This record gives sequence, structure tokens and C-alpha cells, in this order.
Amino acid sequence: MNSILLFAADCLKGTKDLAQAEILKLGKDTQIFESGSDELIIFSASEDYNKLKTLKKMVNIYYLLCFPAKGPGNLLNIKYMSEICLHIQKASKNSLDFKPKTFKISAAGSDSQTFKEIISKITHFTGLTYDKENGDILLRFRKSPNKQIDAWEVFVRLSSRPLSQRNWKTKNFVGALNPILANILYDLARPKKGDNLLNVMCGSGTILIEASERKKLNRIVGIDNNENVLKICKEHIDNSKHSEIEIYNMDATSLTFKDNEFDLALSDLPWGENIGNIKDNFKLYQDTLRELLRVVKQEGNLGLITQDIKNLELVIKSLNLKVIEKRKVYQGGFYPYIVIIKI
Ligand SMILES: C[S@@+](CC[C@H](N)C(=O)[O-])C[C@H]1O[C@@H](n2cnc3c(N)ncnc32)[C@H](O)[C@@H]1O
Repeated sequence: MNSILLFAADCLKGTKDLAQAEILKLGKDTQIFESGSDELIIFSASEDYNKLKTLKKMVNIYYLLCFPAKGPGNLLNIKYMSEICLHIQKASKNSLDFKPKTFKISAAGSDSQTFKEIISKITHFTGLTYDKENGDILLRFRKSPNKQIDAWEVFVRLSSRPLSQRNWKTKNFVGALNPILANILYDLARPKKGDNLLNVMCGSGTILIEASERKKLNRIVGIDNNENVLKICKEHIDNSKHSEIEIYNMDATSLTFKDNEFDLALSDLPWGENIGNIKDNFKLYQDTLRELLRVVKQEGNLGLITQDIKNLELVIKSLNLKVIEKRKVYQGGFYPYIVIIKI
């Protein structure tokens, strides 16, 4: 029987409800608590690392420890320090990605003498090396936001890298989608078992690979008109071992597929920031959507993501399309929208 522990998870702004729903699927003994932040989830769950590994919508997952303490200096108390070090060792043993060798700290005043002592104790008791910039296990210290009590919280990250950095990703394509958003776009587009999925403008393959790791689709097809990015996409597909994914060099505004060949289409459109130009977006979006309306069956859905919501909405209006969901999300300084259209 696994014990129930307290965990915390970072999520992307605009996705907390979906991340919480994914956490609740861990099991009946899972409970979510108020965190007071739209980017943090606090939950208790069974200590089952194979299940925790299935969470795809979290940026980081941590053990959450809470100690009655007026300041960080009180954490040097031998009882508290042992508890912290025990959890660091547990995180090292049960890491959700690869085995950590080093740790780093995030705390207000992390350069103070108190934190120097905390770091020295952790190094001594865990055998891990302190690496200020690139440490594997992230330890976050903060005063409890609950003003009724004097307490300090310690977050011990359960992975060596943020979980949004998927293992298959060996190349950084500028303009690549955060895999968490690709995962969420896929869900919001409501795929059904046995669907044929088309991902136009697939870039380095993020949506294709996230989709292939989910429900059993019949076909997963990606197209892009940039041969260099398709090479990266192929490398990522090979890393992911999802050889069923088909990719083609094709123009999204002139697809060579038959009418009604797909049940569902997804696209991370060029936003006109890192890729493309805002002044070209209206025509590019309109020509692409016209093609998607041809190759996707009636009653099928289109799931789109872009920061250029203005041009996308103008195109949706011009083609008289029905939007069934619109959601503002967050990715590295940008606030793109996910839009789901019912054909
Ligand atoms: C925002 S990026 C997609 C990034 C992708 N989601 C990823 O994670 O790597 C947009 C992609 O659209 C492609 N693209 C732009 N115009 C296109 C067109 N007319 N036909 C096909 N692909 C196009 C670009 O080559 C680029 O890879």
C-alpha cells in the first residue's frame, strides 16, 4: 500500500483546470487544495511514481514540505533538515526523468549566510553537489502564503529538468510549441478513437508526437513546407519511436489530400512573431482554413493556436465558422489563444 503524500505542481497560466483534471485521474485518494495561484496546484496523492510519470500537463512536480518556522534559519533544526534531506534522496531515487547528481536553490535571499549553511548541510547529508545555475533537483523555499501561521515551505522537484522538456526533443526549433500546450490543444479538439488526424504546419513535430502518445488514432499525418524543419521533425519522431506518424513536404494552402480524408485537424499557425509576418497572416490563415474545410469531414473539429487572434477571428468571420471553444493560454512571454472550430 503506497502512502499518501503532499505534492505541488507548476502549470501554465490558462491551463490550471485541465491540469487539475489530469491530476484527479491519478486515483480516488487524490485531493486538490486551494493554492491561491493560477500557476500552482497543491494536491495529495498516492506515492505511485509510475502514475505521476503519466502527468503531461505539469511543468514541474514537487514534494511539498511545510515546517513551523519563523524564518529559513529555523529549517537548520536537525529534525527539519533530516526531513528535507530524506525527501531530496527520495526525489533522487524516484526521479520522473533521469537520475540527478546536483541541486540548485530558488529562494528570496538565497545568497545569505543562512542559505549557505542550508546548502552545506544538504550537500553533506545527500551527497549531491550544489550547482547554483544548472543544478538538477530544484529546491524552492518560501514563507507560507497562509498569513495565520508562521511556517516555511520547501518544494523538492521530482525531476532533473522541467517535465515540459520531453525526452524526444533533441533540437530547439525557434517557434516550437510548448508540448504541454500541444497536449491541451489535442484534448480540447475532442479526438475520438480511430480518428484520422491531420496536423498542418507541423514544424518540429510537437503536436504529432503528443497526439501519438494519447488515444489510439487511426492515422497521424503532419505537413510542413520547410524541408529543414521536416528533418528536425523526423529526428524527433525517431526519438519518440512513433514510426506510425506520416510527414510530408506540402503547402498548407494547397493540400494534395482527398476531400474528407480526415476527421480532425490541428495547427500551431505561424504567429507572425518568430515565424512569418503578421501582414501575411490573414491570407495565409484564410487559404489554410479553406483547405482544412475541404479535407476534414463535416462534423469534424479544427483545433488552432495562434497569438494573432485578430487575424484568425477575421478569417473565422469571413468563412462563417462556428467556434465552440476559445481559451487564452501562456507560453514563454506570449499569450496565444486556442480556438476550436466545429465544421
Ligand atoms: C509556429 S510553427 C509550428 C511549430 C510546431 N508546432 C513545433 O512545435 O515545432 C509554424 C510552421 O508553419 C510552417 N509553415 C508556414 N507556412 C506554411 C505553409 N504555407 N505550408 C506549410 N507549412 C507552413 C513553418 O515552416 C513552421 O514550421
